[in-house]
Amino acid sequence: MWAGRHVVLGVSGGIACYKSCFLARRLTEAGARVDVVLTRAAAEFVRPLTFEALTGRPVACSLWEPGEALAHIRLAHEADLIVVAPATAHLIARAAQGLADDMLTAMLLARRAPLLIAPAMNDEMYARPETVANLERLRAAGVAQVGPEAGPLAEGPSERPGRMSEPETILAHAARLLRRGGPLEGRRVVVTAGPTREPLDPVRVITNRSSGRMGFELAAAAWERGGDVVLISGPTALVPPGGPTLRRVETTAEMEAAVRDELPSADLLIMAAAPADYRSVEVADRKRARGEGGLSLTLGPTADILVATRGLRKPGALVVGFALETGDAVARGRGKLERKGLDVIVVNDATEPGAGFEVPTNRVTILDRDGAEDMLPLMDKRAVAEAILDRVAARCV
Ligand SMILES: Cc1cc2nc3c(=O)[nH]c(=O)nc-3n(C[C@H](O)[C@H](O)[C@H](O)COP(=O)(O)O)c2cc1C
Repeated sequence: MWAGRHVVLGVSGGIACYKSCFLARRLTEAGARVDVVLTRAAAEFVRPLTFEALTGRPVACSLWEPGEALAHIRLAHEADLIVVAPATAHLIARAAQGLADDMLTAMLLARRAPLLIAPAMNDEMYARPETVANLERLRAAGVAQVGPEAGPLAEGPSERPGRMSEPETILAHAARLLRRGGPLEGRRVVVTAGPTREPLDPVRVITNRSSGRMGFELAAAAWERGGDVVLISGPTALVPPGGPTLRRVETTAEMEAAVRDELPSADLLIMAAAPADYRSVEVADRKRARGEGGLSLTLGPTADILVATRGLRKPGALVVGFALETGDAVARGRGKLERKGLDVIVVNDATEPGAGFEVPTNRVTILDRDGAEDMLPLMDKRAVAEAILDRVAARCV
């Protein structure tokens, strides 16, 4: 989504400037054309050369440099999106007052594009009524804000907001701002992800190889498209995406309960989780020792969440299921689509290289209720998520 987009990254003079280097790098890697504008104080923290090398483009620092006299107006008018990260207390105050005494503030005042700011400062500076009022004024002028977050500051530990959001979080908010107005905007989206675990005793479980990555990418992509997203996840080692509300569950029964809670208000349910299909009929209340000899387990089926919750779907809600098969994937997927009352089913064959569990890529075929069948090439899971949402969005309009 960043390819061909023009982003102006404003950087003001806070210690979090070092994180802006990562942001500039990530935006450039993602295909955006990134022009960096530094305040004088920012150039004390990170030299313009660093940003120039990261973006491959000249960096603007001063209104008074000979070369291009009206660069601040050109940048303001060409940008698809402006991000200021970090936004210092001083920059926020100047922008809130409509001052235009340097390259960055003059460009902000002339802007036509949406503006996202990532405040970063000492927690007391952030809580000061002057700063609160300045931010309020900017928000009233339509400026979007990400963070700050509570956590350690350069000067020591803190539990109050002040710390700049991480580059990945800023990137996700920037994407959501840029993608405003799509069919998922304001829709309630519920995504399930990951495996579930069924206990055998207090320490042992039955689970599967699902990493949760496909569901996490779907939740992140749906949130970027403006969705109000709830991510119901079994145990995974992944860092959760910043925007969606996360509900963690352990067993298939817990996942079913969470889906029951969320489904009645959902416009879209995407069941990307791989819940355990079996559970032990008996769960021991103590850890059995190996020395006690062999162990036989009797397994019983868990609930099929899509089938069990079918009656709770809101009229008109769209439902997307996943089917991971080991052979005959498309035919079996079509059968599941009918049986479970789905609008779209995403099928993949776990035996194909690069597809399925524990890999960052997937090769899927998307089947929909109208009989369409779309076989996608091997792609990373984020690209698969976008392709699935494109298909769903087409059904939303
Ligand atoms: C080491 C150091 C760290 C600073 N960190 C911050 C900061 O994180 N946030 C902030 O608002 N100001 C910070 N300041 C103060 C700003 O640099 C100062 O207010 C400056 O005038 C900001 O200018 P600018 O907003 O035009 O970039 C820091 C100053 C120093 C010397």
